[in-house]
Amino acid sequence: MKPVLDELKIFTGNSHPALANSVCEYLDIPLGQAEVFKFANDNTFVRIQENVRQRDVFIIQPTSFPVNDNLMELLIMIDACKRASAGRITAVIPYYGYGRTDKKDQPRVPITARLVADLLTAAGADRVLTVDLHAGQIQGFFNIPVDELTALPILADYFEKKEIRDLVVVAVDIGISKKARDVADRLHAPLAIIEKRRVGNNEITETMNVIGDVEGKVALTFDDEIATGGTIVNAATALAEHGVTEVFCCVTHPVLSGMAPQLMAKSNFSEIVVSDTIPVPPEKRNGKIKVLSVAPLLGEAIFRIHKGLSVGEMFN
Ligand code: R5P
Repeated sequence: MKPVLDELKIFTGNSHPALANSVCEYLDIPLGQAEVFKFANDNTFVRIQENVRQRDVFIIQPTSFPVNDNLMELLIMIDACKRASAGRITAVIPYYGYGRTDKKDQPRVPITARLVADLLTAAGADRVLTVDLHAGQIQGFFNIPVDELTALPILADYFEKKEIRDLVVVAVDIGISKKARDVADRLHAPLAIIEKRRVGNNEITETMNVIGDVEGKVALTFDDEIATGGTIVNAATALAEHGVTEVFCCVTHPVLSGMAPQLMAKSNFSEIVVSDTIPVPPEKRNGKIKVLSVAPLLGEAIFRIHKGLSVGEMFN
């Protein structure tokens, strides 16, 4: 019999098979076989089609659009692996949906990011591997180990190669300023911050002040996700009003909901660089969007978790 956790197995649901395949290519192993589909009555069904007994199982599934379906697939896949006697199950969630609902900041609202953490643990996940959480504190919603990776070096390296003169990195709201500071440090550029305020719960943002010196510079805005696109497009407009000569954008998660792709196309961004934590289908792509892959990052982290090596060392 194989020793416990000797063999690494990777499975995926329907959320982002292309990313799972790229991770398997990096690791030079085949993607595990699994059926994941819906019956006519809208119930999701899963069958793991190979032996996972005592194996080290990783299920790659960003909980992106359709969020509830993808989350449910992930939970059911974890349950199927647990009941098939997997040795250890890691939920690999490159984009953690519901991450923005992470605090009780109004009366009678839920903390859904915590509820999702409880659901994953109840289903049988032993560990979580994720990328750029909306708030790092979400790690503490879990009582199982969470490894949070960042796509920030991948995005920053892309712009470093462009050797842009007079660059200023811009955090598009105060919440993202610490990560934007890391991008600025990597690029040896100063940091500016936009004070953004949301109006109600309807996803409309109103850009407020630009804090810092941006006039005559090339701006690189940084944020964790583009959802409606309102935040970054308002940021680009505010920066143009404050005299930047050109504006680029980098963002980890391309949620790109509703009219966001059209909004981006019309914006004054020269280029919008995102990662592939979420699939970007051809109809959402336009000449301005460049997608960089996190597959090597995830593949390396999976290898290290499997071998019991440090994940933190990847970022030193
Ligand atoms: C918000 O706090 C986040 O950091 C992003 O700024 C936000 O999720 C972007 O949303 P939208 O594109 O809809 O403005």
